[in-house]
Parts: sequence; C-alpha cells; structure tokens
Amino acid sequence: MPVIRFVREGRDVECFPGENLREVAMREGIQLYGLKGQLGNCGGCGQCVTCFVAVVADEGSQSLSVRTPVEEAKLRRRPQDWRLACQAMVERSVMVLTRPQVRLPDAPARLKAASEAPLPLGPTAWPALPETEEDLSEAATADEEG
Ligand code: FES
Repeated sequence: MPVIRFVREGRDVECFPGENLREVAMREGIQLYGLKGQLGNCGGCGQCVTCFVAVVADEGSQSLSVRTPVEEAKLRRRPQDWRLACQAMVERSVMVLTRPQVRLPDAPARLKAASEAPLPLGPTAWPALPETEEDLSEAATADEEG
C-alpha cells in the first residue's frame, strides 16, 4: 500500500493506489483546512482552493496524479509543488505538508526527520481478486482463522 507521510501531523497513513488525497486525510482525521476552509469549503469540487498541500518528497516522482486543469488554473500563482488535495490521486508513497501557507514550527528539524525515514514505495495496483472456487474457499478460511 502506498504511504502518505503527513509531515505537520507526524503521521504515516496507508491508502490504496488511486485513492483521493483529501478523502484519505478526512478519513484519518487530518485537518487539511485553515480557518477559511473549515468555515466553508466546496466539498472536494476544486472550487474553494482551500485544501492546499505541498509535496515535500516524491518517491520515484509521479506519486500523485498529474495536475488537473482545475489545479493548473487555480494554482497559477502558487509554488509549483503545491497541490489541491481534492484533485490529487495517490499513486505511490508521498510526503506532504498540509496547510503549507501556515508556518511549520521547527520546520528544518521536522522536515529532516521526516525525510530520513524511508518511505515504502508500495504496490501500484489493487490486490488481485481470487480467481477460482478453491482460492475463494482458502480466502474464507484465512478470514475465519484470523
Ligand atoms: S476542497 Fe475545495 S478546492 Fe479542494
């Protein structure tokens, strides 16, 4: 599974390849929004421009899907490594800084610590489904056992 390392929160979170970064963050209780976004956001439509993340490290590059046309338009005057979490799909492990517009206390030390622990690349596809009756019964037995 790809791992998203949230530097500000000091957390690593696993997700499936292709999952939406905003949805994973929300599921895990990670705050993406500053005050404006907390008071009102577009719910992931790419219109409010409040779900910024900065890509700190990109294992093998292309860890997130390419910028969408919405991002190209809305992030024109922002740093090139910023993304809208609601528009980004996680393909491989990636390290991100939520709310990059807000100062990160003790930033150099925290970024260094986050960079020193290697990120697993993770598989790039969903687990294969069992194909035969025998595979299905083995999977069911494994689930019952533990
Ligand atoms: S949630 Fe509104 S732009 Fe991402």
